[in-house]
Amino acid sequence: MSRGEITLTIQRVQSKWAKTKVMLKSDYLRQYMPDTKLFSHSSLKSMLLEYGMIYVKPINGTFGNGVIRVERTFVPSIGYRYQLEQKILFFSSIDSLYRRLASQIKNRRYIVQKGIHLLRHQKRRFDIRVMVQKNLNNKWEATGIIGRLAHPKKIVTNYHSGGTPMSIEMLMSDHTTSSELAAFKNKLRKLSLNIAHHLQATYPNIKEIGVDIAVDLKLHPWILEVNTYPDPFIFRKLNDQSVFHKIYRYAKAYGRFKKRSNHP
Ligand SMILES: Nc1ncnc2c1ncn2[C@@H]1O[C@H](COP(=O)(O)OP(=O)(O)OP(=O)(O)O)[C@@H](O)[C@H]1O
Ligand SMILES: [Mg+2]
Repeated sequence: MSRGEITLTIQRVQSKWAKTKVMLKSDYLRQYMPDTKLFSHSSLKSMLLEYGMIYVKPINGTFGNGVIRVERTFVPSIGYRYQLEQKILFFSSIDSLYRRLASQIKNRRYIVQKGIHLLRHQKRRFDIRVMVQKNLNNKWEATGIIGRLAHPKKIVTNYHSGGTPMSIEMLMSDHTTSSELAAFKNKLRKLSLNIAHHLQATYPNIKEIGVDIAVDLKLHPWILEVNTYPDPFIFRKLNDQSVFHKIYRYAKAYGRFKKRSNHP
């Protein structure tokens, strides 16, 4: 097989906005998607007014880089709190907040998304990554679920930003009984498999997805984003090594580790 052909076998889609628009066409998926708009002065203003807390994210971002959390505050005074990594700033008006964001964003494209108040474990926020892959029979299979516990001072859970991968049994134990958790995991698998089938209609050559899911206090799952180049190695952190072994076996079979002539 030539290098060119290898490149064609696995499709990767970077744009969070393109993937969001495709998923919003599904009535089933829409109930799990936080309101998302392109960043502008008016979307910033309307979303902050409506939700009180929002995430501003680069359309082509990875590893949680450049992700900003903005919320309305009443303490120390009425205004807006902005956090990027560990830098926290306060603004007294939407206009001054917007100027700061615009200078940060420059000419890149960003989205604004309703912020979800994530569940916590030992005071730290966590979210969930579900891995879905083409199996050896070329059928979609949900192969792994793992939690990611945020660094206490960060607003993202990514491993590359100091997050700690951990089993969801450990993270959800304060929030569900074990039978509720089993039902919840089935719900996450069903949701993530549906995303894979739905995206495949538009992107026929995807082979794997990693779905980032936030869970709120009512245990409603929210799709934060869908990665088409998910890190398989995070699953090595689970005690149950059979999960990673299966993920690796499937990934190898569809050519995930072959050298590519262009990078994502
Ligand atoms: N709407 C949101 N509400 C609450 N937390 C969010 C929201 N959006 C993002 N986050 C937090 O920020 C993290 C990073 O955001 P996201 O997954 O969208 O981008 P990314 O990680 O940079 O992209 P990639 O996963 O492709 O590397 C999420 O895992 C989650 O912890
Ligand atoms: Mg992510």
